[in-house]
Amino acid sequence: MAITKIKDDLYWVGAVDWDVRDFHGYAIYKGTTYNAYLALDEKITLFDTVKANFYEDLLFHLRELIDPTKIDYLVVNHVEMDHSGCLPKIIELVKPEKVFCSPMGEKALLEHFHRPDWPLQVVKSGDSIRLGKKTVTFLETRMLHWPDSMFSYIPEDKLLISSDAFGQHVATAERFVDEVELGEVMRHAAKYYANILNLFAPNVQKLLAQVAELKLDIDMVAPDHGLIWRGNQQVILEAYDRWSRRETTRKALVIYDSMWHSTTSMAKAIAGAISREGVAVKMMNLAVTHRSDILTEILDCRALVFGSPTLNNGILPRMGDFLTYLKGLRPKGKVGAAFGSFGWSGEAVKIMNEAMEGMDVKLLDPGLKVRNVPTDEDFAKCKALGAKIAAAVKELG
Ligand code: FEO
Repeated sequence: MAITKIKDDLYWVGAVDWDVRDFHGYAIYKGTTYNAYLALDEKITLFDTVKANFYEDLLFHLRELIDPTKIDYLVVNHVEMDHSGCLPKIIELVKPEKVFCSPMGEKALLEHFHRPDWPLQVVKSGDSIRLGKKTVTFLETRMLHWPDSMFSYIPEDKLLISSDAFGQHVATAERFVDEVELGEVMRHAAKYYANILNLFAPNVQKLLAQVAELKLDIDMVAPDHGLIWRGNQQVILEAYDRWSRRETTRKALVIYDSMWHSTTSMAKAIAGAISREGVAVKMMNLAVTHRSDILTEILDCRALVFGSPTLNNGILPRMGDFLTYLKGLRPKGKVGAAFGSFGWSGEAVKIMNEAMEGMDVKLLDPGLKVRNVPTDEDFAKCKALGAKIAAAVKELG
């Protein structure tokens, strides 16, 4: 890819990963970028690096602008390996005067790379350094999404380099949001938020309040993944506010897996009844839907309805996988119910109920179990459960 000037004497020099499809369990169908930024000032400064196997891309981009050994400062906004993976090689090549990181960043760098000889310089929220014409002010953003995470703000450029926050997993030749279709960017941004940041919603609210309080003059937000917000940063700031306030709509999800179609037919009956009551519903079959896509839909839904037959006194493996993933991302403020068919033991509903209780999902019903293949009477119970769920969703507003 081409280096991109994003501000006077400030360039995107990162890497585009067109091929990656899995990001520790999150399906990224359109790849991603690892954004790094280079400030050409009296102190030449590189903000973040890239994933280890993209070292050559970073080097290629740096060489288009400078001799990389002339870099004076490195800023490590985040230690996760997609941004720091090639730090050892870069430090060996550049021999920087200083490597700036947050207090938790220092700890994480030492624990990842075991190099106490690196010239780490710890900076805290509000600390500033002068590069020459440009100043960098740091803002710690703990648990957004790691303890070490921080932002770098350059007031002279009205630029916020925001680490993982406000990013999207999408590989493009374009570098700015305004060069592509906004709707698609927002779909990627929502999926990114839902799968990476949603569990830290209270921290997002605090951060947005802090940014407002500091009255930072910002006309560009440059994340470490995806496209850069240029003049349209309010769109993503408002979306993060909405998402982190956990605003929901009148929507229910029926998330299920099936063995011999009985649980599928129950799912259809329940979803049909929810829809008939005027509540939006989506059926999400775990056999064909990736867990991370379901998380995006969960962002604004009110009811989670889980379906699995009983298999070997338990639930189907894909449901087990999904509940484990969802539990880690801590959905809040949802109501739920479970259903499923069984042959002789029938533990699945109890297991799904317990999983929901463990996630603070409010159970609306003890759950619906059907032996083998549903009868008309069983379908009537499915419809009644759907109506009950729809009523609860409407009650929430
Ligand atoms: Fe993109 Fe948390 O690393």
